[in-house]
Amino acid sequence: MRLVLLGAPGSGKGTQAARLKEYLKVPHISTGDLLRAEVAAGTPLGLQAREVMARGELVSDEILLGMLEERFSKDDTRGGFILDGYPRNLAQADALDRLLAKLGQPFDIAIQLAVDNEQIIERLAGRAKAEGRADDNPEAVRKRLQVYDEQTAPVIEFYRQHGQLAVVDGVGTMDEVFARIVKAIESYRSAG
Ligand code: AP5
Repeated sequence: MRLVLLGAPGSGKGTQAARLKEYLKVPHISTGDLLRAEVAAGTPLGLQAREVMARGELVSDEILLGMLEERFSKDDTRGGFILDGYPRNLAQADALDRLLAKLGQPFDIAIQLAVDNEQIIERLAGRAKAEGRADDNPEAVRKRLQVYDEQTAPVIEFYRQHGQLAVVDGVGTMDEVFARIVKAIESYRSAG
């Protein structure tokens, strides 16, 4: 199964991907995690990305595509993947289509986790207290939500128009949300 997980910051993409990778037995590829690893390692790419991420803005499309190409060159992605955090704008959606077509691995379905902004702000404030992630402060969260509305929402609309989107209610317990995603995957599989 080749899955793209979409949703606003804090909608639960990472949480659910961690469960889904056990269910689907495919790797979880999070562009946010890949970038945070570069930042933590202090690589030139990480140094370039750190401030941009802390402000809640998008890192350049070119950097992201290079990172993804490298990740998809690894053998473990041959049997499928869960892509989390990419694409975030229409140019990235186009780049992803071209990359996956080149690899002969077009994605099966994009699943959007739908969560209202009030709940997102509450979740991220909770994580800011618990973990202190650099971009979970109120100002960066506002910016991340704005970037999502302006740049990522059109990607969702694009996939919807192409019949490649399943929307899942992301509000509820983590188990409830997981069960809804599994249901969406299984109904896609049985339709195919
Ligand atoms: P990224 O790491 O992708 O961050 P994000 O999209 O803002 O997502 P989060 O990790 O905050 O949320 P999530 O949806 O994964 O939810 P989570 O499961 O963690 O990107 C970070 C930055 O990197 C970007 O801003 C950008 O700068 C850069 N970047 C990344 N990809 C890029 C790209 N493609 N192009 C350019 N730049 C890029 O959950 C959040 C919290 O909620 C947790 O505390 C969790 O425990 C809690 N939670 C989860 N589910 C529930 C639930 N059901 N009920 C209650 N709480 C819940």
